[in-house]
Amino acid sequence: MRIDVILGLQWGDEGKGKIVDYLATQYDIVARFQGGPNAGHTLKFDGKKFVLHTIPSGIFRENLINLIGNGVVLDPITLQKELNALREAGVHYSNRLLVARKAHLIMPTHRLLDAASEAAKGHAKIGSTLKGIGPTYMDKTGRNGLRVGDINRANFQEKYEALKAKHLTLMQLYPAIDFNLEAEEEKWFASLEILRSLQHVDGEYFINQALSEDKRILAEGAQGSMLDIDFGTYPYVTSSNTITAGVCTGLGVAPDKIGQVIGITKAYCTRVGSGPFPTELENETGELLRKEGQEFGATTGRPRRCGWIDLPQLRYTIMLNGVTQLVITKIDVLNIFNTIEAATAYRYDGKISDQLPYDLCDFNIEPVYKSFPGWQQSLENASDYDELPLAARTYLEKLEDLIGVPITMVSTGPERNQLILKEVKEVV
Ligand code: GDP
Ligand code: IMO
Ligand code: MG
Repeated sequence: MRIDVILGLQWGDEGKGKIVDYLATQYDIVARFQGGPNAGHTLKFDGKKFVLHTIPSGIFRENLINLIGNGVVLDPITLQKELNALREAGVHYSNRLLVARKAHLIMPTHRLLDAASEAAKGHAKIGSTLKGIGPTYMDKTGRNGLRVGDINRANFQEKYEALKAKHLTLMQLYPAIDFNLEAEEEKWFASLEILRSLQHVDGEYFINQALSEDKRILAEGAQGSMLDIDFGTYPYVTSSNTITAGVCTGLGVAPDKIGQVIGITKAYCTRVGSGPFPTELENETGELLRKEGQEFGATTGRPRRCGWIDLPQLRYTIMLNGVTQLVITKIDVLNIFNTIEAATAYRYDGKISDQLPYDLCDFNIEPVYKSFPGWQQSLENASDYDELPLAARTYLEKLEDLIGVPITMVSTGPERNQLILKEVKEVV
């Protein structure tokens, strides 16, 4: 058996949580492989809404095992809050939620450093979620970090204090900020008890054993490929590898174990936080997309920047990820538009190109758009692909042709069942 992967092809918030929750019944294990509480994955079913930050989106499906992999950075305080919400919803998670011992811990001083570093950057700030992601991954690669497996070791407190002292020294580089460290530490140590009570595993052995037993595994990405630390719009990115390659290091599986790669894109495009966004619409159309799509961050509540779908950008992330199938979400948000645009190329540096330049920040990129007629009707009654309005099908099929990867699912609303499966045409 191989591991299938679901990940975002844009700047995050593509609807990964919804699609993972929908597909989860076809799997035995769902595993998060990177990121941390910067993620906000929204699930809606039976009229209820849940936002998951650290816990994989398979947790609501009975009998399914959910693994927080070694590539994740985990804040026990956020985890505790998520577990409380699950308990209140009557979800039995205790024997279904596993945590990799090698996952790194986000300490209160990581959040403090994140906030101070962002404050010091002023206008140049990344727009971080302030969850401590950057400083925690810095300690991981700097070989100073604390891991889940350390919390049961005799020297844990000592290691914690040493790293905290280092962080406080680093804080002298930054202007002082308002942060009640003592109160945050109290919460953190209390929540460690909850983390201790969960099942810890050597994730790499667990996953490879499961593969050898023919278990079906789905890896759930967080953020989006344009936020990847290596290939995203650096430095306006997150601090992990959000692309398929991150599955290998974030779970401990070999590249030949990767199966289907399911890439998700909105029918338009959004970004939250700072950084380049070639198709951004800073006008009424952008505002309309935000309003119709309710584009406000699931983690921070910030308004998301909105624009048209960007095909050079999508072709780039499809290339990086080895995407085998595409899922288009939020097509219903386009219902009201008379005309829909898709960027097919970029004009910059005196030429037209379908490649992204080294640094998107260096150029004033002018997208070259292709227009499509809108359908201007609700999609509520469509449950089969053929029931979608002709203009919607034309838009989707044209995208498919321009991108070169088959669309297998089209999401028409936030609820679990608002999803249309699309058959892949036989290639003759
Ligand atoms: P994720 O981070 O990729 O899981 O996505 P988020 O949960 O941050 O953001 C996606 C938002 O769109 C959530 O509020 C979802 O409930 C909502 N959503 C997902 N699919 C659809 C869809 O097809 N149509 C509409 N209107 N909303 C959707
Ligand atoms: P999901 O999984 C959208 C963005 C932040 C910021 C940059 C760096 O819900 O799609 P960080 O806190 O990681 O240091 O922030 O990345 N960002 C996201 N944007 N969705 C996310 O996750 C994101 N996680 C981080 O807004 O611009
Ligand atoms: Mg999100």
